[in-house]
Parts: sequence; structure tokens; C-alpha cells
Amino acid sequence: MIKFRDEIKDLQAYKPGKPIEDVKREYGLKSVVKLASNENPMGTSKKVINKLKESIDSLAIYPDGNSTLLKEALAEKLKLKTTQILPSSGSDEMLDMIAKTFINSGDEVIMADVTFPRYIATTTMMGGTPIIVPLKNWTYDLYGILQKINKKTKLIWLCNPNNPTGTIFSEDKLIDFLKRVPEDIVIVYDEAYREYVTSPEYPKDTIKLLDDYSNLIIMRTFSKMYGLAALRVGYTMASEEIIGNINKIRGPFNVNLLAQMAAIEALNDQEFVDNCYKVNKEGKEYLYCEFDDMDLEYAPSETNHIFVNVERNCNEVFIQLQKRGMIIRPITGDWIRVTIGTMEQNKLFIKLLKEVLNLENTIK
Ligand SMILES: Cc1ncc(COP(=O)(O)O)c(C=O)c1O
Repeated sequence: MIKFRDEIKDLQAYKPGKPIEDVKREYGLKSVVKLASNENPMGTSKKVINKLKESIDSLAIYPDGNSTLLKEALAEKLKLKTTQILPSSGSDEMLDMIAKTFINSGDEVIMADVTFPRYIATTTMMGGTPIIVPLKNWTYDLYGILQKINKKTKLIWLCNPNNPTGTIFSEDKLIDFLKRVPEDIVIVYDEAYREYVTSPEYPKDTIKLLDDYSNLIIMRTFSKMYGLAALRVGYTMASEEIIGNINKIRGPFNVNLLAQMAAIEALNDQEFVDNCYKVNKEGKEYLYCEFDDMDLEYAPSETNHIFVNVERNCNEVFIQLQKRGMIIRPITGDWIRVTIGTMEQNKLFIKLLKEVLNLENTIK
């Protein structure tokens, strides 16, 4: 009989947001809106699309395995050496590569709950022991994490802003935390939603911290604000030593040609980013107002999604919304996560949510 590794015995396959086509088919719907996976409702920059058309003739050729041009573009923009940067096939691939690079069987790995589920999956996959520190007021409890550190601790996953709650911790708290963590413990700091942050307290310039903390790894993605989720591209920054070691276990052509070309072009289209930021901020304020009117509690979000208590079982609300052509993400208990869409999508979401919660009569 075939034997699988013990480490994967209890792992569950990742459950992505339900695809639009599946929901259309299942419920016989013509139109379905997906606000479930924190994608960019504004799509992709036109400049990027035009650039991709230029690259489409080269699909028979392997991409540059080193992602040289993308690394150079990033190095110039971020004022780092190319040897401190490693592009990956989305942050998802990087999470796996980091886990493979550092986690030995029996190592303790600290993470929050609730947070991005791939942290626990990759840790478990490598035989690491997940040490879970619950959020406090839906926000990272950095002090609680420090208290869990011991001789077996190998790595700490941090997500700022956090998915799914959208909450942040401040620059002061981050620096205080970094100072207290022993330097042989790896700190992975995931900034997937950094471009959406509006709070002045957020650590905007974390790259400068790489000089002082040789155990820090910073991860970013083009999947969210840059609207390239389908192409799978992100990048990671750390010391040359860390990047060099992660690079040893990287697949030969991990970032495809279109992803490399699109990412370079996306870095140049600040106008697209500024517009998406504005649309997201307005959408967030609209949804906050509606949730306030409906008396629904929510966590303050610095991202493109809101974590909201719908006072009804989240799976029930998920199914009822889905039947009406709206896909959101049920998270835990009565809490759902909804991606901030275009204003039209946000209004539709609120209309359908009121219908599902039987709150139509409370409309202003
Ligand atoms: C916090 C966080 N990290 C990483 C990822 C993975 O992003 P990517 O599309 O770059 O693999 C996501 C995706 O939702 C995320 O929310």
C-alpha cells in the first residue's frame, strides 16, 4: 500500500473562493458577483494589458528563470540590491519556499488565529508544530506571541494588515516586537494588502528595517492592488543570505513570462494604483455607513475587505447570498469577509445582505 507522509495526513486542501461559473451553473443564474477572494474589482491596468499583448508571441520559449528584468525594476524602485529580492509565483509559492527553507520537523512556528490559512498549512506540511496565538479585538497580539517564544521556536508568521480581519498593528509595535525577538528566529512579515492602508500608524517603509533585522523577511504580491491575481506573481525581500538560501530550493522557471512582463509594467502605472486606492477607500466608507445603519459590528479594515458580524451563521448567509448571485467568504461563527467591490457591486451586496437578513425595511 502506498504510504503518504505523516505530515500531510490531517491537512485539508485549500478552499478558494467559489468560482463564478460554478455558482452560475449550480443556481441557474445569469449574473454572479464575486466578492470572496480580495481580488481587484477595477481589473488590471490598461498599460499592463497592452504590454502583455507584446509578449504573447514568445510563449514557446522558457521564461528567464532568474526574473532578471523584474528584479532590476524592483531593485531600482525599492533601493535594494537585486540579491535581496526574490520574485515568486504569487506569495503562495513563497510561503511554501520559506517553510521548506527553514522549518524542520518538531520546530515550533508561531502564528495568529484568525489569519491567512496557508501559514498553518505550510508549517504542518514541513512537520513544524503550529503555536497559535488568538487575535485580541481582531488584531495581532504581539505581546502574546512574544510570550510563546522558547528554545524550539524557529519562525513567526505576521500578516499586517491581517487577512481576514483587515486590522493592522502600528510601526511602533512592530519595531518594539522586532527588538524583542531573538535574532535566530525568522520573522516572516506578509504585506499583501499594504497598498490599501489609509492609517498613518501603519509601518509604510519596512524596507529600511532589513538593515537592522537580519532575521526579517518581507513578502509582497501583485495579486491585490496591482490586479494580477491570475498571473501569479509576488516578491520577497530579505538579507542576501536568506534570499540566497531560498533561491536554492526555487523551481527553475517559477515566475512565468507574462507574469514577469506584467509586474514590471504594473510598477510603472501609479495612476492605476492611485485610482484603485480611491475606489477602495470610498467603497469602504460606504460599507461602514451601511453596516452602522444595520447595527452590524465590523473590524476596522485597512485592506480591500471587511470582516463583519452578520449576526447569523456565516455559512447560512453565504449560501443565501450565493443563491442570489453574490459570493462572499464565510469565516467563523457569525463573521463573514466581503471584498470591497466597485460602488455598484457594493450596493448590490448591501441590497442582497438586507434581503437575506430580512432587514429591507430598515433602509434609510
Ligand atoms: C495575507 C495573504 N498573503 C498571501 C496571499 C497569497 O497571495 P498570492 O496571490 O500572491 O499568492 C494572500 C491571498 O489572498 C493573502 O491574503
